[in-house]
Amino acid sequence: MITVVTTIIGGPGFRAAVSAQGTSGECHPSDPATCTLADLADLLGIRIGTTLEDFEIVDSDYVATLRREFTSVTPENALKAYSIRPTQSSWDFSAGDAVVDYSVDAGLEIRGHTLVWAKDEYTPAWLAGLTDPVALWTATQEHVTQVMSRYADRVRRWDVVNEPLATLGTGPSDSVFWSLAGDWIGDVFRLADSIDPTAELWINEYGTDWVPGKHAAYLSLVRDLVESDVPIDGVGLQVHRLPGSAVDQALLEQQLRDFTSLGLQVAVTELDVPVAPTDPGALEWQASQYRKVMAACLAVSGCREVTVWGLSDRDTWLDGLGVFSTPTRPLLFDDSLRPKPAYTAVRDLMAQTVVRRSLPTTGGFAGSEVLTAWAILTLGVALVMSTRRPRRTS
Ligand code: XIL
Repeated sequence: MITVVTTIIGGPGFRAAVSAQGTSGECHPSDPATCTLADLADLLGIRIGTTLEDFEIVDSDYVATLRREFTSVTPENALKAYSIRPTQSSWDFSAGDAVVDYSVDAGLEIRGHTLVWAKDEYTPAWLAGLTDPVALWTATQEHVTQVMSRYADRVRRWDVVNEPLATLGTGPSDSVFWSLAGDWIGDVFRLADSIDPTAELWINEYGTDWVPGKHAAYLSLVRDLVESDVPIDGVGLQVHRLPGSAVDQALLEQQLRDFTSLGLQVAVTELDVPVAPTDPGALEWQASQYRKVMAACLAVSGCREVTVWGLSDRDTWLDGLGVFSTPTRPLLFDDSLRPKPAYTAVRDLMAQTVVRRSLPTTGGFAGSEVLTAWAILTLGVALVMSTRRPRRTS
């Protein structure tokens, strides 16, 4: 998805406006309704993502919205072990191939999710049942090797280990993977790095934004990896919110910074904000929560992505969990794929941020050349940031 940036010199104060010709045609951030989320994400040098399943590819309304509004995709289930290797003797890449091929054709970046999911309930029974650590490691090596090799030319970013911590606690999860000896998380990252040395390697975790003490536990785990020179590039915060629980923007921003201070990229990888089914004010409240999450990411220079966990309310995984009153209505588009207040809030904040970043405020510079050079530099940095792999070198 290539965005063309142009500068418009706006009057004696040399106020620059930025516009983009992206998926929506002409995007003028000073008039946010002319822009899609994808246009604005490109201008801001971040990814805006959502999920994709193989059966959603044939839904023309779904994919039209996906292609118009988003720049990246996380396969919701198709690349997980339970999809790819449901039994020890059966490999099934059909859903993964469909989602990956579609995304590549559509020019969408892919977050490969996930190589090892450290939750037994989401691990194929045959794999979770391997009580011999040697057999478990052999199976893990085989899985990571097969999956990464198959998609190496198309999937440039992987959630290598997902949810190593207890869902609602601060200790290790009760996954079979913790029966592996020593630094098993580091071992999986080193394995992944050996298979595809140029892929971005990420860790991802649930609930660190609201489970008491979990952020500190996650930070400590990640710091240990960094200090052990484990080849890790990024840290994902899932940010699945609870109904009625307000986002603390400053806290979320600080949590993101705690990881970028370690020299890593960060991303909000699985955002959803469920609300009560009958609360009339819920959608406006939800919009303000979405806005705070996007604002926190935009405030942190190493925050590379915000991905919402599902495109429209009719697609959400939350309604099938049996935990919340339904419909939970947690996403940016409603059941008919109409944008909700949360969409408008996110879009407008992104547009305001583009405008604010593109307005030189002092009179120290003059001339359209300066502004044009600035715009080219911004585009160049955005393109480089979207393609490079800022592997830690120390
Ligand atoms: C969920 C999917 O959305 C569901 O369709 C599936 O049944 C279970 O997994 N954390 C993660 C995601 O890392 O992979 C999960 O996705 C949601 C929680």
